[in-house]
Amino acid sequence: MQLRKNTAFITGGGSGIGLALAKEIDINFRANVRLTKLFLPILMEAHEAAIINVSSFLGIVPKKDSPGYCASKAAIHAFSKALRYRLEDSPVKVFEIIPPIVDTPMTKRLGPSVPKMSPESLAKEVFLGLKKDKYEIHPGKTKNALLINRFFPAYTERMAKKR
Ligand SMILES: NC(=O)c1ccc[n+]([C@@H]2O[C@H](COP(=O)([O-])OP(=O)(O)OC[C@H]3O[C@@H](n4cnc5c(N)ncnc54)[C@H](OP(=O)(O)O)[C@@H]3O)[C@@H](O)[C@H]2O)c1
Repeated sequence: MQLRKNTAFITGGGSGIGLALAKEIDINFRANVRLTKLFLPILMEAHEAAIINVSSFLGIVPKKDSPGYCASKAAIHAFSKALRYRLEDSPVKVFEIIPPIVDTPMTKRLGPSVPKMSPESLAKEVFLGLKKDKYEIHPGKTKNALLINRFFPAYTERMAKKR
């Protein structure tokens, strides 16, 4: 897949820390749906196009201190999947990136003791995934976390409840 030749847009907007829950859903999820609706007719005209959504591991295993954020990311996860099925026979591919904790302004408050993936490593894995048409991209620790969650869901839930 040659990204330079394709039309792609990336959505997903910030930590939403301190925002009212409804606003968080608006920014993180509803804006995404609206953008998709607006861009889709243009993307459908392209020879090859991609929608790249950014969700989070927290959309799959939520934690107690950010219910709005977790819910918005769970919604992005389901939306991306359903949209992918729907556009299967179209030129538009639908990707979902499920990042682990990445070292960005959003995670500054977590401090240096929390291990974070570098944005550069994340980008490398994402581009590799895009090239291989891997529609759900699980960079860094997400891969193992999802695997553990699949086989030991009670364990991951216990861990998430503590966070
Ligand atoms: N960092 C992580 O550990 C992590 C983990 C999982 C998922 N994610 C997801 O990855 C995506 C990017 O996050 P990041 O880590 O790169 O965070 P970031 O460095 O804090 O960047 C957040 C981005 O969202 C934009 N934004 C913030 N509030 C907004 C608002 N009210 N309306 C519109 N745009 C807004 C910011 O725009 P301005 O620069 O103009 O303010 C910025 O471009 C997000 O969807 C996040 O949920 C991040």
